[in-house]
Amino acid sequence: MADKKDIDEFSGIETTGHDWDGIKELNNPLPRWWLWTFYACIVFALGYSIAYPAWPGITGATKGLLGWSSRANVSADLASVEASRAVLGEKILAMDLADIEADPDLLQFAVAGGASAFKVNCSQCHGAGAAGGGGYPNLLDDDWIWGGDLEQIYLTLQHGIRYDADEDTRLSDMPAFGADEILERSDILDVAWYVRQISGQEHDAEAALRGQTVFEDNCTACHGDTGAGEPDLGAPNISDAIWLYGGSYDEIVTQISKPQQGVMPGWADRLSGATTKQLAIYVHSLGGGE
Ligand code: HEC
Ligand code: HEC
Repeated sequence: MADKKDIDEFSGIETTGHDWDGIKELNNPLPRWWLWTFYACIVFALGYSIAYPAWPGITGATKGLLGWSSRANVSADLASVEASRAVLGEKILAMDLADIEADPDLLQFAVAGGASAFKVNCSQCHGAGAAGGGGYPNLLDDDWIWGGDLEQIYLTLQHGIRYDADEDTRLSDMPAFGADEILERSDILDVAWYVRQISGQEHDAEAALRGQTVFEDNCTACHGDTGAGEPDLGAPNISDAIWLYGGSYDEIVTQISKPQQGVMPGWADRLSGATTKQLAIYVHSLGGGE
C-alpha cells in the first residue's frame, strides 16, 4: 500500500496513504518559499544566539560574541548626556546672564534646569507654580519687591533677604511703628486708611486725610511719595492691588504696627553657581521679569 500512489478521486491529489475507516488525508506539501523561509529563520536564530546574549543560565544569560549589552548602552547614553550637561553648566557659569538668555540653546537648558531646581528648593515657600501666597511673593507677576531684572533676581537669589548667615544679604527693615511705639495708635489707624485710599480701596476719607500727613512724615522715605515702592530698599508697592501680607484694613494695621520682616535664605553657599544662575533665568522667564 505504501509503494502504490493513491490518488484521491475527487480532488485528484495524492493522499498520504493513511486510511481511517475510509477517510483519507491529502498529501499537500508545504510551499517551497515557506519551507526556505523557515530554514532561514532557524539559521538566523542560531547565528543570533551565538552573536548576542541569548541563553539564560544560573548567573545570567550567555554574553554573545559581540559583547552587546543594553545596560552598557544606557550607561553610555547617560554618560554622554552628563558630559554635555557639564559642558553647558560650565558655559553658564562662565557667561553673563544676559548672554545666556540671548543664546536659545543655553536659555532652554537653563530654564529646564532652573525649573527642576525650583521644584526642589523653592516650591515649599513660593508654591510649585511660583504663584506665592501668604508672605511669599508671587514670582509670576510684574510686581517686584527687590527688582525684577535678571541681575536683581540673581542678587536676591545669591544672598537671600534678611538672611543672617550672608553678610551681603538684602536688608531693609520696616520699623515696627506700633510695637516700638514710634507712632500713636491713632496715627497708625489713620495712615492705614490712607494706604487703603492710595491702593484704590474703600476707605474712611476723613481718617485718610489725617493719615496722609503721617504717611508723608514716616513712610515716603521707603515706599516713595505715591506709595509705589522702592526696589533698592525692598519696600513693596503699596498703591496697587498686590499684597504680600494682605490688603484688608486689619492686615494693613497689623503690618504697620509690627512688620513681618519676611526671610528668604540665600543660595550662593548651598547651590552651585550654575544652578543659581539657571534659577535666576528660570524665574526671569516666568513672565513677570522686567
Ligand atoms: C523659606 C522660604 C523661602 C524659600 C525656600 C525661598 N524663598 Fe524666595 N522669598 C521668600 C520670602 C519670604 C521672600 C520675600 C521677602 C521680603 O519680604 O522681601 C522671597 C522673595 C523672593 C524673591 C524676590 C521677589 C521680589 O518681588 O523681589 C525671589 C526672586 C525669590 N524669592 C526667589 C526664590 C527662589 C528662586 C527660591 C529657590 C532657590 C526661593 N525664592 C526660595 C521665601 C522663600
Ligand atoms: C525703612 C523702610 C520702610 C519704612 C520707613 C516703611 N516701610 Fe513699609 N515696608 C518696608 C518693607 C521692607 C516692607 C516689606 C516688609 C516685610 O517683609 O515685612 C514693607 C511693607 C509694608 C506693607 C505691606 C505691603 C504688602 O504688600 O503686604 C505696608 C502696608 C507698609 N509697608 C506700609 C508702611 C507704612 C504705612 C509706613 C509708614 C508708617 C511704612 N510702611 C514705612 C519698608 C518700610
